[in-house]
Amino acid sequence: MSKIEESNLYNKEVIALEKERLTGTINDLVIDDNHKLLVALDSNKFCGYLYFTNILDEIEIISICLKQEYEKKGLGKALFEHMVNVYKPSNVYLEVSSNNLNAYNFYLRLGFVTYNKRFNYYSDKSDAYLMKWSR
Ligand SMILES: CC(C)(COP(=O)(O)OP(=O)(O)OC[C@H]1O[C@@H](n2cnc3c(N)ncnc32)[C@H](O)[C@@H]1OP(=O)(O)O)[C@@H](O)C(=O)NCCC(=O)NCCS
Repeated sequence: MSKIEESNLYNKEVIALEKERLTGTINDLVIDDNHKLLVALDSNKFCGYLYFTNILDEIEIISICLKQEYEKKGLGKALFEHMVNVYKPSNVYLEVSSNNLNAYNFYLRLGFVTYNKRFNYYSDKSDAYLMKWSR
């Protein structure tokens, strides 16, 4: 059975998964009053994470990632819903590459809208889509 938890017991797994599937820019996880980590567990096995900052009623998603074998099972949505239910932000912001259409479509499905675009933003020349979710 899967569950979402705020936990720092899986930091090594989070950093390894970010390196495997994303840019590898997270070398250390800061977890404090403003930086939060949620993990998705399936029978206590680590499946993925959501890492974000929370300042007042605003959240910025730093990174979200599921292990490939746990994608498309509702865990990404469960991580997001847990975050908004517990932290009750007015707005959630994020930035996603125009090359990552899977993530872009996932965010659209969650109700995000694109409010700006930065052309040639990433080192691979892809654009950055700036997206926002509002309560
Ligand atoms: C993007 C990611 C986090 C989505 O998580 P997930 O657990 O696979 O998504 P879910 O199963 O919770 O899907 C939630 C909803 O989004 C939709 N969705 C998910 N991926 C989608 C896709 N590629 N295209 C269209 N819709 C998609 C689902 O159909 C579902 O819709 P529903 O609520 O109507 O059923 C996951 O694919 C991932 O880890 N990708 C690699 C890392 C990454 O790119 N992170 C984002 C960096 S900006």
